[in-house]
Amino acid sequence: MEFRLLPGGSLTGELRVPGDKSISHRSIMLGALAEGTTHIRGFLEGEDALATVAAFAAMGVDIEGPRDGEVRVHGVGLHGLQAPPQPLDLGNSGTSMRLLAGLLAGQAFDCELTGDASLRGRPMGRVIDPLALMGAAVSGADGGRPPLKIRGGRQLQGIHYDLPMASAQVKSCVLLAGLYGSGRTSVTEPAPTRDHTERMLRGFGYTVTNENDVISLEGGGRLRAADIEVPGDISSAAFFLVAASIAPGSELTLTHVGINPTRIGVINILSLMGADLTLKNERVVGGEPVADIRVRHAPLKGIQIPDDQVPLAIDEFPALFIAAACAEGRTVLRGAEELRVKESDRIASMAEGLTTLGVVNEVLDDGIVIEGGTLGGGTIRTFHDHRIAMAFAIAALRAEEEIRVLDCDHVATSFPGFDAMSRGLGLQISARTD
Ligand code: S3P
Repeated sequence: MEFRLLPGGSLTGELRVPGDKSISHRSIMLGALAEGTTHIRGFLEGEDALATVAAFAAMGVDIEGPRDGEVRVHGVGLHGLQAPPQPLDLGNSGTSMRLLAGLLAGQAFDCELTGDASLRGRPMGRVIDPLALMGAAVSGADGGRPPLKIRGGRQLQGIHYDLPMASAQVKSCVLLAGLYGSGRTSVTEPAPTRDHTERMLRGFGYTVTNENDVISLEGGGRLRAADIEVPGDISSAAFFLVAASIAPGSELTLTHVGINPTRIGVINILSLMGADLTLKNERVVGGEPVADIRVRHAPLKGIQIPDDQVPLAIDEFPALFIAAACAEGRTVLRGAEELRVKESDRIASMAEGLTTLGVVNEVLDDGIVIEGGTLGGGTIRTFHDHRIAMAFAIAALRAEEEIRVLDCDHVATSFPGFDAMSRGLGLQISARTD
């Protein structure tokens, strides 16, 4: 499937973006390991979260739905999973693989985790190493890539792990393995990352402490089923925050967006660039802060992106690079080497597309320099990465000619219905399947 976009236009109206991907994954995982029935609303029915649903169904968990964002997970308790009959295929989803590696390392059975070509190219040594320190037997293929083979029947030991990179997936992997470890498992991070695992564990009645930035839990407890309302995904909202900011005449209200402080780098960075954003109706729903966000067109200026915002906006850089391309002056991003190991190498993928549109940029090892200017048109390769596809779709609002975005099927991993929703707001997008 590809997107075709006519140049120009503006976005107006109100929308609720689909549910948060990170929280949707965790709601299934913890719901499955809990005692009792967990009722989830606002669940993201995207392919990544559905891969997690399928994995737990294959391990004997009775899951009703999702239907209109509602899911009922009949938990089997921490020791109630059954051996899956075949390798678990997690599609494109790094979150499923890294978090499952942690919670499957302490099971009585063996299993294997695999995925699509993109996922099979992503580094798993970052989870294999701490799990080995805990006494788990997890091995990858060449250079620590998937498939991951996990040998069951190991008694895990609690460890303290100093994370070598800012990664919520690695942190969550270690904490989930820690549920099965003897004694205390703790982690420290080089910079704060999304804390949905810690928040949700507490929501399921499990004690997780954070003292002086050491996050810890004791193994051997129990999870109690909970009701979960999943907020809208700020990572999906990000495309509209940028789209309305760059397109003259735009005004959008995004309702019920998650604004967890570990996720709001995109709001902070756009505000520094001069965006017109207003948060309204701030509230806490099921342990996660949410708000309605109004965004209006505003002239943006290039900035040096503060280092401390990088982990807080790690998934939003494709959209933010489009904001930078439309801003006046130069934007500099450093300290973002993690972008190179996402669903694609997002520095390289974005740089190629920006160059196609005539945007001057310089690729750095750990970031990029983007000179704001005018955008032409052209044909964009996405490297099968959902966020690259959506970023270049919204770029059309400021392009001078048509943009064709190839290979957009993966948009459904995180944002099913993106094209219809954005067309309804005014984006001149059509999706074509050959
Ligand atoms: C995620 C953590 C981040 C993020 C990913 C989702 C999570 O990955 O990029 O989309 O749900 O924990 P890293 O842990 O690799 O930074």
